[in-house]
Amino acid sequence: MPRSFVSIDELTNDEIEAVFQLADRFLDEMATSGKPFRIQGRCELAQEHILATIFHEPSTRTRLSFETAMLRMGGNIISCADARSSSSSKGETIADAVRVLENYADVIVIRHPFEGAARVASEYTDVPVINAGDGSHEHPTQTLCDLYTLRVARGDQQGKRGAEVLKDLNVVLRGDLQHGRTVHSLAYALARFGARILPDPAPGCGFPDHVRRRLARDYNCYPLNKKEIDELSDAAFPADVLYLTPEEPHQLALMPDVVDVWLRLSKKQQKAVRGIKSVDAFYATRLQLERLEPGEDVADYPAIDSEFLKQRRYRNSRVLHPLPRVDELSYDIDRDKRSIYFEQAAYGVPVRMALVAALLELEPSVLQNASPASSYAQYSHANGVRCSNKRCVTRQESEQRYLVSKYWIVDERDLTLRCAYCDYEQEVLVVSRASTHKYTTDVAHWRDIDSKDLVLFADEHDAVEAGYQAKKRQTRSARSAK
Ligand code: NCD
Repeated sequence: MPRSFVSIDELTNDEIEAVFQLADRFLDEMATSGKPFRIQGRCELAQEHILATIFHEPSTRTRLSFETAMLRMGGNIISCADARSSSSSKGETIADAVRVLENYADVIVIRHPFEGAARVASEYTDVPVINAGDGSHEHPTQTLCDLYTLRVARGDQQGKRGAEVLKDLNVVLRGDLQHGRTVHSLAYALARFGARILPDPAPGCGFPDHVRRRLARDYNCYPLNKKEIDELSDAAFPADVLYLTPEEPHQLALMPDVVDVWLRLSKKQQKAVRGIKSVDAFYATRLQLERLEPGEDVADYPAIDSEFLKQRRYRNSRVLHPLPRVDELSYDIDRDKRSIYFEQAAYGVPVRMALVAALLELEPSVLQNASPASSYAQYSHANGVRCSNKRCVTRQESEQRYLVSKYWIVDERDLTLRCAYCDYEQEVLVVSRASTHKYTTDVAHWRDIDSKDLVLFADEHDAVEAGYQAKKRQTRSARSAK
């Protein structure tokens, strides 16, 4: 199978660095003079290849920079920029669309409102699929552009290059951390590279539960936002916000709440937190209005202007934004040398050239043979528990015709499942056998059941609705009669 790029976790840190080195090379060879971030001209690297962009949500930068990237490499593009002009408006499923498209293009770039849509696409085609944003879930190629921009800015400051410069950066993630897909992928990547993440959400727009859980489980990171810090008022907390990758994961993994997080930090860790005196980068995001529930509103959205940047501790802070902006970045900082969001957008071209070249294997040795494997066991069954996220691709009428729910078992003791498409987690309370249609609430039994026979339900109500019956407890006399 060719490699796809659906989640930021599908590239290892070394592979990300290899992609960045290829982007460096494109810039060295093709950048406009005086504008080291802008590619000009064409090479012939991809002249035999076609890239398809299929976008079911609005886009300017992502789609056009992918298309420019392919054209700059001498390749060709086919594009569907509007879902209304594609057969999805006639009810065509994602699986069918990509099985058709793979006959026309060598690589497919997809943006879709359903969370997990790009994962589905990658499972039904034999050409690489690139996730250009799936609902509020992830936007991994934006993250590559963000990391690359930080790497260049920070490297220039330190006279260094390479992803190592991301380690120990203090990065503030601002705005809509709940619905913004760019900040989700970016948080995972920063955690992996060892940066310190300082979440500064708009009121009510903190990281959603599934993101916090994934950060904690997969990277041992525990974000605390302003509200939680305020609740710790007598804990003399030195920073507004804190996000840690602990040095002693097992110790921290047991922590039940935020007070404990602070109290159980080692002296060294507490010192590290106190040491957060400067901010290396602000990553501002717009309110994702299109993803709010009807009637939902957000007041006091945090903005950055020249007055804000006058604070001493932001003297060397860089300002990034995936764009488009609305009111969260004032136009009066555009000429400030700390503002690097337009360079960030420009880097979309060399970074996406490098990614496409790597996935199409136009450049050898950028990627390993296979994507990094998950450490969790998988559970899947056509019946039983459904994903709890109503925006998940598995919950959509069109896709339900063929899609079977699939989960990672992220906690084997409490039987917690993570949807393999959208990452939402849920605990299951009922374990049953498809062969007997009997269930039990003693979830520890799941290990005794053959994986093909195992059916999990969220609760007893769902099991009964599906025609399952509670397993009778064996009475003492029945047991002794044996
Ligand atoms: C972002 C997106 O689409 O998620 N834009 C982008 O791809 N550069 C951010 C946004 O729309 O706010």
